[in-house]
Amino acid sequence: MSVAITEAPSQDQLDRLRDQGDRPEWVGALPLAELEAKGRAVVKRAGKQVALFVTRAGVRAIANRCPHEGYPLSEGTLAEPSGAGTGDACTLTCNWHNWKFDLETGSVVGGGDAVRVFPVEIRDGMIRIDVADPPPHERIARALAALREGFQRPERDRMARDLARIEAAGGDLKVAVAAAVEWTSEHLEYGTSHAYAAMPDWLALADGTTDPVDRLACVVETVGHINDDTLRQPAWPYPPGTRAWDEDGFVAAVEAEDEHAAVQLVRGGLRRGGFATVGRGLCRAALMHYQDFGHSAIYVEKTREAVERLGEHAPVEALVLALVRSLVTARREDLIPEFKAYRPARDAWTGRGAAKTKPADFCRASVAKCLERAVAASGSIDRLYDALLEAASWQLVRADPLYATRARQTISQNVGRLDFSHAITFANAGRRMAGRYGELWPDVLLQLACFLGRNGGFVDPGYDGQQWRVDDVDGFLVDAAANVMDHGQAEYIVTAHFAKMVCAVREEVAAAPNAAWVPALVAALNRFLNEPFRRILTRRIAHQARETIKGE
Ligand code: FES
Repeated sequence: MSVAITEAPSQDQLDRLRDQGDRPEWVGALPLAELEAKGRAVVKRAGKQVALFVTRAGVRAIANRCPHEGYPLSEGTLAEPSGAGTGDACTLTCNWHNWKFDLETGSVVGGGDAVRVFPVEIRDGMIRIDVADPPPHERIARALAALREGFQRPERDRMARDLARIEAAGGDLKVAVAAAVEWTSEHLEYGTSHAYAAMPDWLALADGTTDPVDRLACVVETVGHINDDTLRQPAWPYPPGTRAWDEDGFVAAVEAEDEHAAVQLVRGGLRRGGFATVGRGLCRAALMHYQDFGHSAIYVEKTREAVERLGEHAPVEALVLALVRSLVTARREDLIPEFKAYRPARDAWTGRGAAKTKPADFCRASVAKCLERAVAASGSIDRLYDALLEAASWQLVRADPLYATRARQTISQNVGRLDFSHAITFANAGRRMAGRYGELWPDVLLQLACFLGRNGGFVDPGYDGQQWRVDDVDGFLVDAAANVMDHGQAEYIVTAHFAKMVCAVREEVAAAPNAAWVPALVAALNRFLNEPFRRILTRRIAHQARETIKGE
């Protein structure tokens, strides 16, 4: 609100401001005559830089720092509306990047964020401005609305500013993360993506730092990734309705790819007892097959963690419905020839296999051999898990970069570092799931064996893995967590995997600090984070496109 040059705010206006929770805090700014002589001026009051302008409609006061990059708006170009009378708005252009603001309201006419305007009154020839901050809930609501509006464009810096405004007003950034999920859940055609799945890892990293810049960086990563995965996507609404929770019925609905029934059932479960009620059913559905190269299990575990980390703010239904959609639409890789040994191995699992396994049994063996050896060792779950995790670490340390970079190869040879890292993040998710529901261990271990059998063909045993050795494990993990938000990567999907791997390795080491696999696992993380890698291989895409269409 601003007041014409000759008017002071009425008592009614002041009362209304008070009713809204505002406490007007009028301070003297400048003698009116002085501003009229200069046309514009900057004053500093209550720690704020305020730019004052004389316009035909009266004196106007706005924050002097441009909300874009902070350059002084007092240097801007003022455009009065032609033929304007008292009360007409005029526009101020910030000449650094041509953003334009309505001086009356502060709203942006062209650009991004709005600028703050200050109420003005003239008393006894003195310009007075109200520098009281709006109440926190109003500032938070305004910044959240701006963040929502900013979701129309992929502007990381704008999101960061709106998130910083929420925090500066005393708001909890988890509210913004939860809101981002609410806004986007229906816009994920195939349900949960890495944007949601990496969120609890970014929140864990944020919770683990005392540096406010790093804390904000973590939240920018997760909110930005959610925006990136859903930008300009239409809505695919979830089926309406609720059915009484029935765990077996839910697992069967997922198996039948029946989103309608699965969504209604899970809603019934959530209403009955929240995530705890549906947790085991989600785990079972995720592990029914070797599916989505382990993503289903990772997503279930990360959704559970997201619900926990967001606490009272958690948009539980929005998260879980997206998860259910991802389970329903998951690829069942155990149905393709490469993994056809999975189902017989699962059926052959007795839990009494007495073989003593070692990591080398799984490093370079086929899928069938890995499964056979896992079944033979089914009587010792801990030992088998240790062997599989160490083998997965060994493979990542020796992943052959040829397959990640070569253009002229078959699609089935497209095996890069993320294929190897998923064995480790799957192991982490699987261990935690089976820790709660022990009956899931066979599925977790055999599916981990599938990863190893598949990836074993894409390692270079002669590769010098020693270069990734880490001497100070604890120090390395602290540094990895501290540096992960300063990655220099353009793609959210890459940084999401950095965060996921850092958190997964940290958790595994914390759970078993003296395990034999710790050096290999930490070396794997070292290579994963620190070896540059290529992501977009257009020549490969072109080569494989030509091969694929041959003979059509
Ligand atoms: S700093 Fe004002 S438009 Fe960029």
